[in-house]
Amino acid sequence: MKHTVTLIPGDGIGPEVSAAVREILAASGAEIQWDEIPARAEFERRGLDFINAGVLDSIRKNRVALKGPMATAIAGGPPSINVALRKNLELFANVRPVKNLAGVKSVFQGVDIVLIRENTEDLYAGLEHTVVPGVVESLKIITEKASTRVARFAFEFARKYGRKKIHAIHKANIMKLSDGLFLTSIRKVAPEYPEIEYKELIIDNACMQIVMNPHQFDMLLLTNLYGDIMSDLAAGLVGGLGVVPSGNIGEGMALFEAVHGTAPDIAGKGIANPTALLMSSIMMLRYLQEDALAERIENALQRIYREGKTLTSDVGGNATTKEFTEAVIRAVEKPAPVGN
Ligand code: NAI
Repeated sequence: MKHTVTLIPGDGIGPEVSAAVREILAASGAEIQWDEIPARAEFERRGLDFINAGVLDSIRKNRVALKGPMATAIAGGPPSINVALRKNLELFANVRPVKNLAGVKSVFQGVDIVLIRENTEDLYAGLEHTVVPGVVESLKIITEKASTRVARFAFEFARKYGRKKIHAIHKANIMKLSDGLFLTSIRKVAPEYPEIEYKELIIDNACMQIVMNPHQFDMLLLTNLYGDIMSDLAAGLVGGLGVVPSGNIGEGMALFEAVHGTAPDIAGKGIANPTALLMSSIMMLRYLQEDALAERIENALQRIYREGKTLTSDVGGNATTKEFTEAVIRAVEKPAPVGN
């Protein structure tokens, strides 16, 4: 096997969609040995902490991971495992390409935007406390170091993939210090990349602009919370979270995951759509420099969507997860003739 990859199947529909992705990658000939992490319930049964009893070590060793969704309690309960993984492993840049998939109904066609979200600080620092009963304080942490690091990543990404324009999204008119530092850090990096146009836009205006004319945007660079919100908003322009991938990238280490959640309403019914996790695994193959394989699977997936005969119900079809997976496998095994 050429690559060893940590696989975290996750909760809810996670095990169903990750099994589908494993089957498709195996059929494509990808030489991957999966270091599969047992279900969270298994750790809890043994009185072990999910993150610290093996997950972090496995990812640190293998340097690459594919992850299904994990449930997080709302208002109370333990902190998010997703956030803990990104922070502990310093996966500082969240990359979310948002692009139409032919055959998926959406508000716009021809959208092609990459969002780069700072992944380690901002309001996600998790520094909250009760000042006095009835008053709480959440701290928004922005550092020059993390802002510069993610800015450099974004400009390098633009250079590598031939992107032309980066918009930094902010609210520095109100948060003059924190969002101000984010902007001034980017402004120091931008001149090193004169071929890439650099612009700034206030977040509220950016939201309005992107839903009216997404084609004006090429890449967006955002702090953690704005990035979280705007990347889901952007996903909505091309058909929703079921058809967009994501990668969390650090120094020599990366974790790829679908951006949708655990879908408890359909878990166990065999109808979940594995597309988002499959697209994330395609990003992962490119990260592993398996470009030919990535392209073959991407072409097969696009063909199944163009034909539209074996799609799952969330994208307007009536196929089960198994039927969809088998259709993609057939298309991977028998690529369409050139020009089709
Ligand atoms: P969700 O994404 O799980 O579900 C929203 C709707 O989309 C549901 O109707 C669901 O059936 C549908 N859906 C989502 N993924 C689908 C797929 N692959 N195929 C077909 N339909 C799909 O969002 P929700 O309900 O807000 O969150 C549920 C849980 O997931 C929460 O505990 C949340 O914290 C967690 N979550 C985890 C994420 C992660 O691990 N990265 C991201 C988002 C939420």
